[in-house]
Amino acid sequence: MMPVNISESKTPRWEARADLIVLGSGVAGLTAALRARELGLRVLVVTKAEVGDGNTRWAQGGVAVVLDGEREEGDSVARHAADTLTAGGGLSEPAAVRAILDRGPAAVSRLRARGARFDPSAEGPGLARTREGGHSAFRVIHAGGDATGAEVERALVTTAAGRRVPVLERHIAVDALRTPLGEVAGVTVLDPAGVPGVLRAPALLVATGGLGQLYQATSNPEVATGDGLALALRAGALAADVEFVQFHPTVLYTPGARGRCPLVTEAVRGEGAVLVDGAGRPVMHGVHPLGDLAPRDVVSAAVTRRMARAPGGIDDHVFLDATGIPGFARRFPTVHAACRAAGVDPATEAIPVTPAAHFACGGVVTGTDGRTEVRGLYAAGEVARTGLHGANRLASNSLLEGLVLGERAAAAVAADLAAGLLPDPRHGRPPASEVAPVAQRDRLQRVMSRYAAIGRDADGLAVVGSVLDLSARESPMWTPEAVEDAALTLIAGALVAAAARRTESRGCHVRTDFAERDDAYWRRSQLIRLSPSGQPVLADPVPANKAVCA
Ligand code: SIN
Repeated sequence: MMPVNISESKTPRWEARADLIVLGSGVAGLTAALRARELGLRVLVVTKAEVGDGNTRWAQGGVAVVLDGEREEGDSVARHAADTLTAGGGLSEPAAVRAILDRGPAAVSRLRARGARFDPSAEGPGLARTREGGHSAFRVIHAGGDATGAEVERALVTTAAGRRVPVLERHIAVDALRTPLGEVAGVTVLDPAGVPGVLRAPALLVATGGLGQLYQATSNPEVATGDGLALALRAGALAADVEFVQFHPTVLYTPGARGRCPLVTEAVRGEGAVLVDGAGRPVMHGVHPLGDLAPRDVVSAAVTRRMARAPGGIDDHVFLDATGIPGFARRFPTVHAACRAAGVDPATEAIPVTPAAHFACGGVVTGTDGRTEVRGLYAAGEVARTGLHGANRLASNSLLEGLVLGERAAAAVAADLAAGLLPDPRHGRPPASEVAPVAQRDRLQRVMSRYAAIGRDADGLAVVGSVLDLSARESPMWTPEAVEDAALTLIAGALVAAAARRTESRGCHVRTDFAERDDAYWRRSQLIRLSPSGQPVLADPVPANKAVCA
């Protein structure tokens, strides 16, 4: 195809229709698409990369779930819920936690029926189970040792192909179509040649994953640029808890690494590895009763503090000593391969590790059925804020959430369609303006990593705010890069505003100038929506005992 002349690219040149458009082809998106097909809907999946290129396939540790007849003695969904609430630092919504975790075993059964194969136990019948940070029991099932996400994605992609679910690859969503009543009725997209088109549908499900690319180093792939959250905000949706970005304590450290860094799954600590500093001293000793298996926010903050003290002159990484784990290469083939590629042999030497941006605990406000406040707009997976994660997600709860929410969102769309609640897609119009503020990506990542990662303060957050104010330029969203950069810029502004106002430390939000948790006031979620001029605006925080989404 001919390259597109930018001056011509405003007018959509092609159009397609469906009952449900799903943005994203990770666990939540494909689960929703498959369920929607089963419910008789015409569904179209749109992904800006290739199907299977999202965050899901990089997930290592597993799926946290308490299965009937295959659980550790004394474990229960109630205990899993209690661990989730503890990790969530007082901001998870108990009703949402129960609603999602209760449905976990059935969602995993359906995934297995779609062909996903989990690792069998070596000790008897049933599945192997491991433990990760914050879990009080061995309840994390896994596949391919440490390749759980890849297996989940493989099963879903294969099933979707077998059932002929249509997928538009290398198409990036730009903006929602909206009716005069403000409902969402489809989306504008750019095809691989940059040609604009319109996809009309009474329902749009955003399942685009996270925003790790806001930072210089992340466990997330290149596609994790927050596009879905930005699109939903511009479509009138509410976001919450966006200041809580979870940093994984252990990605493989290599000097000067940027972009996606290989994860060293927490399950390595679950099976006995220990974090040590450059002088060989344990990092987690005396920090938390669960030691190396403390919740992830606690471990990441402890690693960051230890690096700041620079024992042995090492200030940008610590080490994970996994030399005591027998058969490391067999149990953790993905981690082992990444280590060997970096010249490290985990069987004989400690693995150099450092924290990196990993998971957005907040996002588009939804119920546990994916419905947002905006009619016609649904969200599921990492982009959604259901109330499960609170201020810090419990390890391996995200694949489970994607499975449950994907199923539930498809059912919600089918029910809303049958009840005549959804808009007529013919009335959807693209937004009047196609321009958005765009900051230079490298610069944004640099200031976000320096001032809005683990350890924030008012002055640093103000620096990010002024970089955004002074350097962002209004740009048309006519290329995939511009769409991504506009999303990163918008989300950075929202995140920094929420982080600056939260004058306490809680979960993944660590303020060096407000080191204590303030339950008297801050046991609240911060809500954000866009002003008519497109600026993120904070609403009054909502107490944690009130559901954000009715
Ligand atoms: C890990 O395997 O450590 C990551 C799993 C997760 O983020 O839930």
